[in-house]
Amino acid sequence: MAKRHTLLPNSLETLFVRLEELVLANSGEDEFEEVFKLLIAKLWDETRGEKSFGSGSTPEERHSQLDAVLTEAAAGWPGILPEWRTRLTPQHLDTCLEVLAPLEVLNTGLEPLDALFEFLMNRSAKGAKGQYFTPRYVVDFCVQMLAPRKGERVVDPASGSGAFLWHSLNWLLENGELRKEDVRSYAEQCLWGFDFDGRAVRIAKAMMLIAGDGSTNVFRVNSLLKPGTTLFGPDTSGLNGGLDEDSVFTIEDVCRTKLRSRPEFDVLLTNPPFAGEIREREILESYRLSRGKRRVERDVLFLERCVELLRPGGRMAIVLPHNKFAGREYGDLRSWTRRHLRIAAVVGLGRNTFLPHTHQKANILFAEKRARAEMPDQGERIFFAVSEEDGKDAQGRLRLAEAGTGDDNHREGIPSWSSVAHDLGDIVREFNDFRVSEGIFE
Ligand SMILES: C[S@@+](CC[C@H](N)C(=O)[O-])C[C@H]1O[C@@H](n2cnc3c(N)ncnc32)[C@H](O)[C@@H]1O
Repeated sequence: MAKRHTLLPNSLETLFVRLEELVLANSGEDEFEEVFKLLIAKLWDETRGEKSFGSGSTPEERHSQLDAVLTEAAAGWPGILPEWRTRLTPQHLDTCLEVLAPLEVLNTGLEPLDALFEFLMNRSAKGAKGQYFTPRYVVDFCVQMLAPRKGERVVDPASGSGAFLWHSLNWLLENGELRKEDVRSYAEQCLWGFDFDGRAVRIAKAMMLIAGDGSTNVFRVNSLLKPGTTLFGPDTSGLNGGLDEDSVFTIEDVCRTKLRSRPEFDVLLTNPPFAGEIREREILESYRLSRGKRRVERDVLFLERCVELLRPGGRMAIVLPHNKFAGREYGDLRSWTRRHLRIAAVVGLGRNTFLPHTHQKANILFAEKRARAEMPDQGERIFFAVSEEDGKDAQGRLRLAEAGTGDDNHREGIPSWSSVAHDLGDIVREFNDFRVSEGIFE
């Protein structure tokens, strides 16, 4: 079996590999799509306490039964399934049902399910630029540094699988800021995700359905598009269920329709893609940092967009490549950033953090948006730290805390990101002392 790069429990990985060996490789169908449909059908069945999944006395009956469950799920959870018919033959489907029957998606818990989605996404993305999940201990670290509070509106404009959103929710639960019975209304009002990749959006919606107790505000838009643009966003193919799909192209459109306001978020957590350049003239002209230029790196525009989406006094954490903090050619970008943001901390991540996806070294910028007329004060101090234990080895395999590698130490059935060996917890503690003494992030 391939080297393990995630905390996907052996049982789920084995289950998937079995599905693939038995069916998917020979069915000619897209494995991500077919497995995703089966998981959603199972989830729908479980949340409704029914047992329609896999019922029926013949393969044909079970096949139409599954389509009926998928049709119900598509109506009950708009925007999660662009297609609600299985493409597997009744015989192929039967083999899948047999393998999946013992799996209880709701009881499996978020972590293993998240790991299964990452596993599926990595296989289907085939190295597509910037389409990887942020390591969950880095997500947790950002959440702890910003410490979202109940009632604050949290956004991720490059939300991928939505991890920054549901980790924020878990953090509030764990810290007693949120009661279990308030999870749904909190998620409904406060957690907002945007991404232009259809599969990522569907994964985020599925994770939010479970974490947010049925609520999800994850939309498929090109987050870099601004109102008034004549460029079209991605084909939403029914993914923005509940919105008028013909008039929703930007984050502003979503906020106008759903919140009756401009985007003004309290907390922003994001890991935009490091790779890629923007060359569309209309986009370049709509950003201060790219006006008059022929091309600009995508992460630079994401930084400007993030500042725009925050309310004054709002807090943000953004993962950016190291060159934006150190490269001589980015001096103007850094001055622009200091004018608009009170920088609270810069934390350097280890070289292996984003392996096996990218070798690029990254830092995280933690900052507060300045009020309109506020000027940088020369006396402002910034907290700097570098992570020396980054949780991965040079091949990108996780290193777990009890010595050895993720491969050796994986404990079947109880995988947990909290068992990864890293020093980010120490950095949070030191930052908290600094934060209090400086009076920032209050
Ligand atoms: C590194 S991934 C973020 C991963 C996410 N934090 C997670 O853990 O799943 C970057 C994401 O940005 C999205 N993205 C890139 N350009 C975008 C754009 N212009 N608008 C919206 N999303 C974009 C990609 O589809 C990808 O999901």
